Amino acid sequence: MLSAQLPLVSVLVLHGPNLNLLGQREPGIYGSVTLGEINSLLKAEGQKLQVKVSTVQSNHEGVLVDAIHAARGESQGILINAGAYTHTSVAIRDALAAVNIPTVEVHLSNIYQREAFRHHSYIAAVAIGQISGFGAESYRLGLQALVHYLRNVKIS
Ligand code: DQA
Repeated sequence: MLSAQLPLVSVLVLHGPNLNLLGQREPGIYGSVTLGEINSLLKAEGQKLQVKVSTVQSNHEGVLVDAIHAARGESQGILINAGAYTHTSVAIRDALAAVNIPTVEVHLSNIYQREAFRHHSYIAAVAIGQISGFGAESYRLGLQALVHYLRNVKIS
């Protein structure tokens, strides 16, 4: 049940390309958890934290940009795993900067232990923080960190 004292917080979770294949895709790197299971985990964590969690996955850069624009006035925070667009997309970085909604970046794998091209994130500079390397738990930790930020830093 929602507590009357807490302001209503909505968080948009964005999943980028190829994350729809989680569970089948390179399980040695990304584990056996499916995207559906991650979304269920986040909804359950959202209930505990008393925040509304909505999720979008797309393999298309422009769809992710549109979803970021649509978050204006709807979501107070964004949790994003931009997948490979992390390392390539100035457009997603610019969209996040434009809407200026507090954003946490997450990755299942530790991108700094992997190929050099994964070491740079265009998202990191416009995010309040990044969690990388804890598998599906990165998402839960990211949501907790984002809500902590919104309640203790941003929302008074
Ligand atoms: C990823 C890491 C990226 O480098 C990769 O392109 C992905 C998934 C991760 O969650 O570990 O698609 O974002």
